[in-house]
Amino acid sequence: VVVCADSTVAALYGDQVVASLAAAGLRTHLHTFPSGDASKNLLQLDRIYETLGKHGVGRDGVLLALGGGVTSDLTGFAAGTWMRGIRYVTCPTTLEADVDASVGGKTGINHAGGKNMVGVFHHPQLVAIDPECLKTLPAREMSAGLAESVKHALIRDESFLAWHEEHVAGILAADPHLLSDLIERNLRIKASVVEADEREHGLRAILNFGHTIGHALESWSEYALRHGEAVALGMMAALHLSREAGLDPAIVTRVRAMLAALKLPVATTQPVDIEAVAALTHGDKKAMGGARRWVLLEAIGKPVIRADVADASIHAAIAAVSGSGRQNG
Ligand SMILES: NC(=O)c1ccc[n+]([C@@H]2O[C@H](COP(=O)([O-])OP(=O)(O)OC[C@H]3O[C@@H](n4cnc5c(N)ncnc54)[C@H](O)[C@@H]3O)[C@@H](O)[C@H]2O)c1
Ligand SMILES: [Zn+2]
Repeated sequence: VVVCADSTVAALYGDQVVASLAAAGLRTHLHTFPSGDASKNLLQLDRIYETLGKHGVGRDGVLLALGGGVTSDLTGFAAGTWMRGIRYVTCPTTLEADVDASVGGKTGINHAGGKNMVGVFHHPQLVAIDPECLKTLPAREMSAGLAESVKHALIRDESFLAWHEEHVAGILAADPHLLSDLIERNLRIKASVVEADEREHGLRAILNFGHTIGHALESWSEYALRHGEAVALGMMAALHLSREAGLDPAIVTRVRAMLAALKLPVATTQPVDIEAVAALTHGDKKAMGGARRWVLLEAIGKPVIRADVADASIHAAIAAVSGSGRQNG
């Protein structure tokens, strides 16, 4: 077993996991890499291959991703390509990975052409979630993970959206019962979508709600925005666009209030270069025949996929989340 963890998570939990596997009689090595999205690159992938080669890991080997979504994306891709695919396990330690990144089989790295540009579908054999790990997670990372939870509620389940509103304080205080419920409800939603359309020929694209402009903002910020923060902004922009698909404007106001309550940004702190961000949306992987496809909402739980969105509308949606440079909320 090769345990892959970023330096932060390795320092917190690496020894414990390695000792536990060794006690079970498994030959185990710990492989570490620098924390941060920038590690989803070819160099870090190659370093994992080097470790696998050095320890003679063969087709019976297992890679274990211990960490957040960066770790599961990078480790899963290494597992999916080493010897044409060996088994891997995810042990998520961030809320983002608990509710989203640890399941569904999408793995990969970033490339100049865009985020998550190179990758494979490769499912973990086992997902072992211990919400206790969240006790060491910084508050900003907790909020970032909550953006994906709100996303799942918006595309699938109005009652789950209301549940978030009811439990904001408890969620932010990391109440263990609430977090267990939250994680389970998220994974049920994600699993139901992935089971229906594993390879994203149709339905699965709804999981990318908020991600077209979100990913563009994330790249534009040079990853100063956490992934979940970029998704919160991207969802606000997508809701703005969704008014053209008939979404009740009151829902935009409702979601803005909830995201802010969960300590997520609803506008950037600095003014956005709208042209640059709009250009970055063209790298989006949901594109078909060169045209971007937009996931919009007709209502909560009723996503629609549209290709016919005018550039002017896209610019207006980006402008709607662009901050003034002054303090905003
Ligand atoms: N494959 C998918 O389906 C999928 C889904 C969602 C997100 N993602 C990807 O996941 C990435 C974002 O994931 P993330 O937000 O988990 O980022 P991350 O993996 O970088 O983790 C965030 C930070 O928290 C630290 N950390 C992790 N666990 C900790 C703990 N328990 N205590 C203290 N610190 C801890 C990490 O060192 C890191 O600095 C993005 O690259 C995104 O594209 C993938
Ligand atoms: Zn995401």
